[in-house]
Amino acid sequence: MEYPKELVKIVNERSKNYALEGFVTGSGPLDPKLMIVGEAPGRKEIENLIPFSGQAGKELMACFASVGLTREDVYITSALRSRPYKINERVNKKTGAKEIVYPNRTPSKKEVFAHAPLLDYEIKAVKPKLIATLGNIGLKRLLGNTYTVSKFHGQIIKHPIQVLNEKMESYVWSKKDYTIVPLFHPAAIFYNRKLAPLIKADWQVIGQLLQTVDNN
Ligand code: URA
Repeated sequence: MEYPKELVKIVNERSKNYALEGFVTGSGPLDPKLMIVGEAPGRKEIENLIPFSGQAGKELMACFASVGLTREDVYITSALRSRPYKINERVNKKTGAKEIVYPNRTPSKKEVFAHAPLLDYEIKAVKPKLIATLGNIGLKRLLGNTYTVSKFHGQIIKHPIQVLNEKMESYVWSKKDYTIVPLFHPAAIFYNRKLAPLIKADWQVIGQLLQTVDNN
């Protein structure tokens, strides 16, 4: 996806005080059956500029395959287009020397808001028939803070989404309803293997929906 230069400039300005690095554009076909909204790119993604190309991406591709999809069928993006990092000092176990590392972290609400013009633009341009959010960040970005993935995963929600107002100063509800299915983030199973059967079942909901959405 190529974003309007002016919009990227606005987002850079809105994000300038946050610990974010790199810029990975969303990618995939226009008018897809499915759009994925994740959290933010990680280290791997900002290196090779392909969304979900790291470890979480491998899990996601397996979920796609379970419902007969490939990466090329799906528009893939996230609430943020840059990697949120933190700065940690630690002792290198091998050398004993102090070192600074920059691991990924969960983005703040303010950072999601700073990047909101890009996701708004993508949703308008891509016109997905169905949106699956991965994890709480993408879900709350679109449906607000009352939604949590643990409560709503696998449910089919027809609802307006949060979009920025004209001045890009606050969220308002879209005029149009969207079909959203909240899903766990594929990286969640790295921390909790017990989620695997739930994730599998939720993807079957997506599989069923894909058979009914009009693809003309
Ligand atoms: N997690 C996300 O939410 N997006 C990516 O592109 C990679 C990991």
